[in-house]
Amino acid sequence: MNEIMTEIKITKVKESRVNQVDLENVTMGFNFTDHMFICNYNNGEWHNPRIEPLALIPTHPAAMALHYGQAIFEGMKATLGKDGTPLLFRPLENAKRMNFSADRMGMPLFPEDLFVEALKQFTAIEKNWIPTKKGSALYLRPFIYADEPFIGMRAATSFKFMIIASPAGPFFSRKIKLYAEKKYVRAVNGGTGEAKAAGNYAAAIRPTEYAKAKGYDQVLWLDAHDFEYIQEVGTMNIFFKIDGKFITPSLTGSILSGITRMSVIDLLRSKGFEVIERTIKISEIIEASQNRTLEEAFGTGTAVGIAMIEEIGNNDLSIKFPEENPVSVMVNDTLNAIKVQDIKDEFGWIVEAK
Ligand SMILES: Cc1ncc(COP(=O)(O)O)c(C=O)c1O
Repeated sequence: MNEIMTEIKITKVKESRVNQVDLENVTMGFNFTDHMFICNYNNGEWHNPRIEPLALIPTHPAAMALHYGQAIFEGMKATLGKDGTPLLFRPLENAKRMNFSADRMGMPLFPEDLFVEALKQFTAIEKNWIPTKKGSALYLRPFIYADEPFIGMRAATSFKFMIIASPAGPFFSRKIKLYAEKKYVRAVNGGTGEAKAAGNYAAAIRPTEYAKAKGYDQVLWLDAHDFEYIQEVGTMNIFFKIDGKFITPSLTGSILSGITRMSVIDLLRSKGFEVIERTIKISEIIEASQNRTLEEAFGTGTAVGIAMIEEIGNNDLSIKFPEENPVSVMVNDTLNAIKVQDIKDEFGWIVEAK
């Protein structure tokens, strides 16, 4: 990284708005912190990284992201450590995944060291916005979008990389019900499902509304070809415990590689559990439920942490999960404890933001 890029220009607000927000009772996504990070891309390079007071950003009506959807994002959370130091969870993994998404969507890669440095400096400045209630955190949203005004189908030549943040309370504090979707699909091999592309989420909105109207919390996506193989949930990867072993769908090309997913695999293995990454048919889950080998199931994601699953169903199907899920609770508690330094981070996942 050249020197100009490492130097992040900082302009702070005169007065923070943090006292206007009840951080102990916040819902993610409604309140935004005092500042934003911005970096511009044009003439083939990223330049002018800066942290400024949060403000509206002037956008040309022909900005290509608005028309052709060249827009990608990341999501991660900051917590406070024992001595009050802000902590990030595996930020380099988000940097790598964002560049994977950028590459797939024909967008310029962002320097990974600047991504991590920007997050550290931004989070340190917004430290007072990190809620301390159990399961709460400051949600960080890095994103890149095409801001070049142009009408026509080609990659844009001008982009913005930004980071904004929103304090978040615990997400699902109850068990969730999933709707196994057999009409709509999220992703196909060769498509953009492996990337964290904005358009993937746009395509999921209507099916999610339908699932909610039927009394479910989220969609369980199946493969686009046979509607048989389990892929992932709205904003989560999924794990099943069958006959003592954990199974999670392998990353076959249409599933987002979750950072919580990869951490849970390592954590479970470190506790002596067998974790298998392979394709899983929904019929296997039904069978395991019938022969009583289906023990637990949970979703994993930054926003939710670990979300215990109570039921998977649709119009003709209902799979109920056992009430007790001790290993899922252990995984959730351990991840949360690592994130606030209640227990030692033996994996080296935590990065101090200072
Ligand atoms: C579609 C999808 N799958 C899985 C995940 C879980 O990924 P992570 O654990 O990195 O948050 C997310 C959330 O980012 C998501 O949007």
